[in-house]
Amino acid sequence: MKIEGKEYRTIWFVNNVVKIIDQTKLPHQFIIKDLKTVKDAINAIKTMEVRGAPLIGATAAYGLVLAIMENNDQTFLKKSSEDLINSRPTAINLKWAVDRMMKKFSGINSDQILNIALNEAKEICEEDVKFCENIGLNGLKIIEEIYNKKKDTVNILTHCNAGWLATINWGTATSPIYHAHKKGIKVHVWVDETRPRNQGANLTSYELNEEKIPNTIIADNTGGILMQRGEVDMCIVGTDRTIATGDVANKIGTYLKALAAHDNNVPFYVALPSSTIDWETTDLKNIPIEERNFEELSYVEGLDENNNVKKVLIYPKKSKAMNIAFDVTPAKYVTGLITEKGVCEASEKGLKELFK
Ligand code: MRU
Repeated sequence: MKIEGKEYRTIWFVNNVVKIIDQTKLPHQFIIKDLKTVKDAINAIKTMEVRGAPLIGATAAYGLVLAIMENNDQTFLKKSSEDLINSRPTAINLKWAVDRMMKKFSGINSDQILNIALNEAKEICEEDVKFCENIGLNGLKIIEEIYNKKKDTVNILTHCNAGWLATINWGTATSPIYHAHKKGIKVHVWVDETRPRNQGANLTSYELNEEKIPNTIIADNTGGILMQRGEVDMCIVGTDRTIATGDVANKIGTYLKALAAHDNNVPFYVALPSSTIDWETTDLKNIPIEERNFEELSYVEGLDENNNVKKVLIYPKKSKAMNIAFDVTPAKYVTGLITEKGVCEASEKGLKELFK
């Protein structure tokens, strides 16, 4: 997708270096950063320079490429793969990507492994682009249906950033929106700010602006009253891990939005590529939920009056704070899962039928 009219992807490999857009600097600064070692890749995932389930999966894949370039040794590769998987706990895409890469390496000579790794990391990215594009085409049908009935702008609420910045291109939740816009369907997006890291305001609104999609940032608690007033036609969110039962882990606050949608008969869709499905977990209590540093709540960053980026403390110095990063929305509140293969019911049966 575009930034200032120029096409970008979120990650690419050139001259033996992995390039990323440093998302901790957006929207005020656009900085492309080099990852040269597997430690750089792990650090980028932990500090959220790259974030979003599919993108951290792709970064982990490229992290293994960097590991091989640094030290083509089995013990180092194994340790690197474990460190990459453990760099963030909730998104299953990390494990999915690392397992896929490691499987490719089994029985391969050390002189061939780098080539194989590089090709597989590129393939993971290409596949994600294709899958996200298909999610868009499948989700477009739902938006189109609402538009044909309403014959007016379709208002879509989204939470966090499940946009192209969270994937390689297109995004998951945003892909149907981009496809609808391309088709001339009038859409407007309610963007949940998404405290504490403000991925909605800083990333979703930013990327929608760059693609000229009308959007309005709202405080996280505003969705409920908008739904009561009939100002939300549908919700689309992403997910970090959808388990075999169709229950959905996503950014903290998603669950409350799903409850409000349920109470107001607003369709609540979750968009995901199959790399985000955890087929082995069947109890939502077993989903590992990340808890991050409380300073992500107590400090905010923004531009000061001289246009310099500044970080300031907003809470009382003595106050404690708690920063749970994800929650789980039970399948019963999800209208449907929009995947690369089609739209299915959020249930074991629905998922199994689609992904035989
Ligand atoms: O903490 P983040 O910014 O990595 O969380 C991202 C989300 O919650 C997204 O909704 C999810 O990863 C889906 S991305 C297509």
